[in-house]
Amino acid sequence: MKINRIVWQNFKCLPDGEIVANGRNVTISGRNGSGKSSIASILPFVLFGRVDAKSFDAQGLTIGTQTPTATIEFDGITLKRLVTAGNKNRTFIDGKEVTATVFNTKVFNLTGGLGTLLFNPFEFPNYAWKVQRDFLLEHFAPKENFVDVAGLDDELKRLRKDAATIPARIEEINRQLNDLDFSGDAAEIQQRLNALNERFAKLQAESSEEQQKFLTRQIRQLESTRDELRRRYRSTKTHCPTCGAALPKEKIAETLERISVEGKRASAEIERLRNQLETLQSKANFSVERGQELRSVQSGISELNRQLYNFKQAANLRKRLEQLTADDKSLNAKIVELESQIAQAQERRNRQMKASEDSVNAQFKFVKFKLFKTLASGDIRETCEPMIYGVPYSSLSKGEKFKAACDILNAFQTKFNLEMPLMIDDAESYTRNSLVTLPNQIFAFKVTESELDISVDESRAAA
Ligand SMILES: Nc1ncnc2c1ncn2[C@@H]1O[C@H](COP(=O)(O)OP(=O)(O)OP(=O)(O)O)[C@@H](O)[C@H]1O
Ligand SMILES: [Mg+2]
Repeated sequence: MKINRIVWQNFKCLPDGEIVANGRNVTISGRNGSGKSSIASILPFVLFGRVDAKSFDAQGLTIGTQTPTATIEFDGITLKRLVTAGNKNRTFIDGKEVTATVFNTKVFNLTGGLGTLLFNPFEFPNYAWKVQRDFLLEHFAPKENFVDVAGLDDELKRLRKDAATIPARIEEINRQLNDLDFSGDAAEIQQRLNALNERFAKLQAESSEEQQKFLTRQIRQLESTRDELRRRYRSTKTHCPTCGAALPKEKIAETLERISVEGKRASAEIERLRNQLETLQSKANFSVERGQELRSVQSGISELNRQLYNFKQAANLRKRLEQLTADDKSLNAKIVELESQIAQAQERRNRQMKASEDSVNAQFKFVKFKLFKTLASGDIRETCEPMIYGVPYSSLSKGEKFKAACDILNAFQTKFNLEMPLMIDDAESYTRNSLVTLPNQIFAFKVTESELDISVDESRAAA
């Protein structure tokens, strides 16, 4: 694509003007501040409207009433944009006003969706490295899913971290085992404990307060039965409660006899239980030795229980020790396995990287891109650095940077089969040896000591 004519009105601080290029190279020269870059910005203004084309007033505010307008006649199509006083963008194709969507679609198709990338050689080298890299891999390398070594590395780190905690945990358990007293034979201790428990139960039964309480309760019950019998004895009727006639003497005597027998039985039982209670109480009271024995049996039981508990503790600790040792073994096996997987993945990834780097670089003449760098640790990291003869772009001289930028641009336009007019700022900085012969129409912006001057290179005819 070439430009035949650029026309502008009310554009920034430029006086209204035009460049009639007819597809030829154009040199725009002039002193600093003469308006060269303003002219260069007409192209992105018309295509994308991203440029603030209104002038600033003394307060730094844009002059709203200004209506910047610019038209670019390419070979084959004329595009025009104007910004109204109300800051509305109006767009035109070949003199006909069209909606923003129609206009933008047209521009997208004309520029291959690459924006101003193909208009300015320095645009790509100034992208962030990641953007450069993604662009190169997307367009210049075969689609490939790189092996995810980082994911495997993370897993390895996690396993190693887990494995590293095990020796300390084993040591802690061994320390606890050492501190535990579990000498002797657990079965024999259990036997002794059973015997003591039996003895304890017996002693307790003998001095049982429960039994005393039980007897007291029974005595009280019998006493109230006896009292009831006495009451009944005293209140036994001698006359019929209904007719008042005297009851037969034998019947009365029989009733009294029955009550009396029951009462005597109760009294005898009370007596028997009291004796039993007394015996129990006297036993509990006088038996100081029993008390001592009971206490010593109790402490014997708790000592044996403690010893048995230690055996259980030791068994638990041993179980945990076994588990940890098994975990340690399986973790280490997993680590070894993963290490070999990583080594293989790394190798595959390196091959993939080399292949994609080669396929990218095959498409540039001078520039070689470094897409991966090896760290001192041996790890490989993604990067993107254009180089010429091994010198990275950031260290190249100004002219060499230009050469690299043009080489990159050339590869891009070959790839996308698009050729745009180039806007080259600071063109006075480059000597012949840095110039790369490009077929493009060139708008060269040069600083000179003169007024703004626009000259069309009549010697180079449009292709
Ligand atoms: N939107 C704007 N409104 C008004 N003045 C502007 C605007 N943008 C830039 N200017 C001014 O216009 C003048 C021309 O600027 P421009 O950047 O085009 O000059 P230049 O020729 O490229 O200079 P240099 O050689 O220093 O790059 C400058 O004085 C600048 O401050
Ligand atoms: Mg400038």
